[in-house]
Amino acid sequence: MSDASHTTPAREELAEVLELVAREAAAYLHDVDARRVRSPHASEAARALAGDLPERGVGAASALRELVERGLEAAVTTSGPRSYHFVIGGTTPAALGADWLASTLDQVAYAWVSSPLAVQLELLSLRWLRQLFELPAAWGGIMTTGATMANFVGLAAARQWWAEQQGIDVAEIGLAELPRARVYSSGYVHASTVKALAMLGWGRASLQVLSRDALGRLDVEALEQALADADAAPAILVGNAGEVNAGDFDPIATLADLAEKHGAWLHVDGAFGLFARVSPRSAHWTAGVERAHSLTVDGHKWLNVPYDCGFSFVADPSLLGRAFAYSAAYLPAPDDPHPNLGTIGPESSRRARALAVWATLRAYGKRGYRQLVETHLELGQHLARRIDEAPDLERLAAVPLSIVCFRFNPGNRGEEELNRLNTALGQALLEDGRVYAGTTTYGTSVALRPAIVNWRTTAADLDLFVSVVRELGASIASRS
Ligand SMILES: Cc1ncc(COP(=O)(O)O)c(C=O)c1O
Repeated sequence: MSDASHTTPAREELAEVLELVAREAAAYLHDVDARRVRSPHASEAARALAGDLPERGVGAASALRELVERGLEAAVTTSGPRSYHFVIGGTTPAALGADWLASTLDQVAYAWVSSPLAVQLELLSLRWLRQLFELPAAWGGIMTTGATMANFVGLAAARQWWAEQQGIDVAEIGLAELPRARVYSSGYVHASTVKALAMLGWGRASLQVLSRDALGRLDVEALEQALADADAAPAILVGNAGEVNAGDFDPIATLADLAEKHGAWLHVDGAFGLFARVSPRSAHWTAGVERAHSLTVDGHKWLNVPYDCGFSFVADPSLLGRAFAYSAAYLPAPDDPHPNLGTIGPESSRRARALAVWATLRAYGKRGYRQLVETHLELGQHLARRIDEAPDLERLAAVPLSIVCFRFNPGNRGEEELNRLNTALGQALLEDGRVYAGTTTYGTSVALRPAIVNWRTTAADLDLFVSVVRELGASIASRS
């Protein structure tokens, strides 16, 4: 049957589509270790996917062939071993297979009635993650689209608690009768927490950043002072377990002490840094997170499950029920004895993200993840050594995890010139596409900050990264 005969979905299309996708995916993944991270023609290829809605469709197999033929060039090889921009995990084989199944089964992880499988695996996976990270068993949680939404959920629980401390159910009557919130963090705070404060109606300006230096390190004394000066309403503290420039940590145990002393809420963003807890070599960085009231972790970063996936853990799970309660006659009743996840998080209909999470934890277990993290810690040190050995590279920060913050510095240039040079180098790296990393501002220096959290990455990939950076850096420097 020709594709063109299908103007509506047909069962007969499935066999060809699945065979085509399995074949193409296998070919892609077979070559992914060697694949350029980004084609020099990626933008053109993306823009070429344009035009008006077709009056008559081409059928599933033709559409999928077109997607493969025209789409791959526009994609970034984020699942490959040399993509170090942002903090991007790969996809383990177990997670990939389970994610395919999640789409095949098309489960709605809203409620027990919509999918006992998805709900049970989500609750079980969250329990396994609490065990992986050695968090209290009584904590509750929910899967989210990522750390941004996990920060939103954790801070929504904080807001519910904060308002209840003042005799108000904020989910019911809103913020109007409440004072301005006081949220404190160091300069390590991630932009997504600021976004979450905006979404929660507390406003971005509710955040006070207390840093003792240009790098953003927490000013503990200023925080103590601010808490001592406090009025009646409790404060919210945001601790950062793994910041994006160099993977550094706030002193979480100190924050937990201060939260305890002043009756404040402690939210910790451990989007990727919480994985330090999986290895005895790095676990000390996270000491105290078990005393937080809410905690964010990402799935699509160091857990290496596909986008999108994050986790919000909350010490008092009943807050989520009050913050996100909703009901309607056609939905499960509030007294339904089964767990219904749509009533303890922001989304109602939800993808069954738990299938991939469960599968990867089942496949590789605690030991597998410890080994993965330790491999990345070693790769971080390997890259740091290669940078330290290179006469034209300058490392700017210690490497507690696997983010290495450095710049190209051929010598004899002032700070402004170095910043211009490294900005240009960052742009050139992305355009070149053999390897991929982004720039940031570290203190006052423009720096590269490759983050290694993909299970496929090897020392040879990082050696190539160093040589591409030096080659492009030298070429830009020779022209400036
Ligand atoms: C520390 C931290 N928090 C939050 C986020 C936001 O995560 P997501 O993009 O998964 O929403 C990130 C992303 O890099 C992060 O590194």
